Amino acid sequence: MSVQSQVLVMAASTRTGSLNQALAALVAAEIDSGGDRAVAVDLRDYELPLYNGDLEAAEGVPGAAKDLVVLAGEAKALVLVSPEYNGAFPPLLKNTVDWMTRLDMRVLAPLTVGLASASPGRGGGARGLNIIRQWMGNMSVNVLDEQLTVPSATLNDDGALVGADEVALAALVAAIKASERTPTDA
Ligand SMILES: Cc1cc2nc3c(=O)[nH]c(=O)nc-3n(C[C@H](O)[C@H](O)[C@H](O)COP(=O)(O)O)c2cc1C
Repeated sequence: MSVQSQVLVMAASTRTGSLNQALAALVAAEIDSGGDRAVAVDLRDYELPLYNGDLEAAEGVPGAAKDLVVLAGEAKALVLVSPEYNGAFPPLLKNTVDWMTRLDMRVLAPLTVGLASASPGRGGGARGLNIIRQWMGNMSVNVLDEQLTVPSATLNDDGALVGADEVALAALVAAIKASERTPTDA
């Protein structure tokens, strides 16, 4: 299978029992069943200090950020599955991307980005996704119109997410399937 068919699926929560990790697992399974290869990125495996220029000057960019940049370079798309925190998105996601851009400012620009969010609240995390969409646009990243929000989300006894709209999930994954990595050597 070509490296172009890899899709990173990154949950912006490292919490045990995370709704968004469960949603990421659902999205990854749907991507795999559609023929692309989902690569789950568990940010517990890529722990990064809060970005600080002095730290970078003294110690360089941490290996975890380098590893993520390598993964991004092998993928055609990235699905960000993010909780909403106070109407925005968690610092975990911002910090991770900020470190990655210290190695390559345009690291995400060749990728198509899909957005998803699960929340116990009625909004499903849509306000956070709106801000991620604007932020990604500011970095010249193409974000799919199709997105998945799961309001009133819960986990079942097996830890799987309950309440995801199957039609919206399928539409998001179909749009990812149709996407291609943008060549960067122009
Ligand atoms: C600091 C903080 C702020 C939050 N703000 C919101 C919010 O604005 N909207 C919302 O729907 N849920 C909000 N929540 C609740 C989260 O949606 C909920 O904790 C969710 O389970 C977090 O995602 P996770 O389960 O993937 O860790 C907030 C939670 C925290 C910790």
